[in-house]
Amino acid sequence: MSQPTAAASQHGAAPAVPAQASATGPLKGTVRVPGDKSVSHRALIFGALAIGETRITGLLEGEDVLNTAKACAALGARVERLGDGEWRVNGVGIGGLRTPDRPLDFGNSGTGARLMMGMVAGNPITATFDGDASLRRRPMKRILDPLAMMGVQVVDQAEGGRLPVTLKGPRDLAPIAYESPVASAQIKSAVLLAGLGAPGETSVTEKEASRDHTERMLTHFGADVCVKPYGTHGRRVTLKGRPELKPAPIHVPADPSSAAFPLVAALIVPGSDIVIEGVMMNPLRTGLLTTLREMGGDIEVLGERTEGGESVGDLRVRGSALRGVEVPPERAPSMIDEYPVLAVAAAFAQGTTRMRGLSELRVKESDRLTAVADGLGANGVAYAIEGDDLIVEGRAHVAGGGLVATHMDHRIAMSFLVMGLASQAPVRIDDISFVATSFPAFVPLMRGLGAGIEVA
Ligand code: S3P
Repeated sequence: MSQPTAAASQHGAAPAVPAQASATGPLKGTVRVPGDKSVSHRALIFGALAIGETRITGLLEGEDVLNTAKACAALGARVERLGDGEWRVNGVGIGGLRTPDRPLDFGNSGTGARLMMGMVAGNPITATFDGDASLRRRPMKRILDPLAMMGVQVVDQAEGGRLPVTLKGPRDLAPIAYESPVASAQIKSAVLLAGLGAPGETSVTEKEASRDHTERMLTHFGADVCVKPYGTHGRRVTLKGRPELKPAPIHVPADPSSAAFPLVAALIVPGSDIVIEGVMMNPLRTGLLTTLREMGGDIEVLGERTEGGESVGDLRVRGSALRGVEVPPERAPSMIDEYPVLAVAAAFAQGTTRMRGLSELRVKESDRLTAVADGLGANGVAYAIEGDDLIVEGRAHVAGGGLVATHMDHRIAMSFLVMGLASQAPVRIDDISFVATSFPAFVPLMRGLGAGIEVA
């Protein structure tokens, strides 16, 4: 049995690869999870927009990021892999992108597609954006609307603002002051990337702050960016357009959203004691850590340090008796990708966990609210959905024994495999192949800790 690499099932055509996880005893060892997906996409994009050579180390070589690399190359940048996670990008400068020969295929990746729509906006070129069946179902209007306000022509789109979408950049892009209706780093980043090609100031205001990797990278590449607090939890980011981006080396820290899987696994498997090295500790990404600690999770952050402009630390995690908590809605942006695995932790906790304000989960790689609820139900866990809240009734013992539909969603797949490591009967998933979008070595890494995962 081996780790599948078939996740790039463009348009959902590749055969499904079932898998199952079963309880095998305590997890032990030290691991390093792959580079952060958000930072990896941005490293390639900014490298392509700078003039000259950008060196990247620690890049996540998952399908999502590889599709962004291909798209940057199709737009004229020279993108080369030098070694394990080590890449070189020779950028063409803002406004220097060329019309691609064929549609840009982003596979399963909303981040790649949405950020690169913003990236091409400031270039007088026409480009078509496409993806697999999951990405074709996801809303793009949230990006097309602000880009249209800036003067981008939406030449073509599938019904309801879905992919495939064809955009034509105008000769002169107009800057905007955009009030984002959703706290989404993808919307914010698309508008800021477009703003690079507009004269004057482009700003994005969010009522709740989303991850800030784009702002940080803009500054790292020499752009003039100003970030101010807005209301209680929000921010306004203002960018001076048409800077010259200067190439800058980037080291990609380990992805906290990938670390979440061994982290929760170690908490729920009794007697476990593991270390996850060099995990990014950006406060806009650590909502899960806060929540798991509130639940009684034994997590120590060791050796906190700065690497490549981000704070990182080694997480020591031990098996813990968890208790149910209430997770406030304003915490959602800082742990938006972690709710599926938090729901698994909640299933093993004593008492009720209520996760509030999860409407955005409905428009991820799958409708994660429904997919998580179905997976919990299939494995004997009591739950309820009330409006946008998910309520999980935890018990120290989870029956397991269910078959979980993953809906082309890597995080649903990994979350329920984690569940199977501590449930009474094994948990099966219908398809593990999409794990390769963000965490290609998930199975060998988890097996190295002692996890019982079988791939058909
Ligand atoms: C991402 C932002 C998040 C997250 C996604 C990556 C990014 O989406 O779910 O996996 O890199 O900007 P939203 O900001 O749209 O919620």
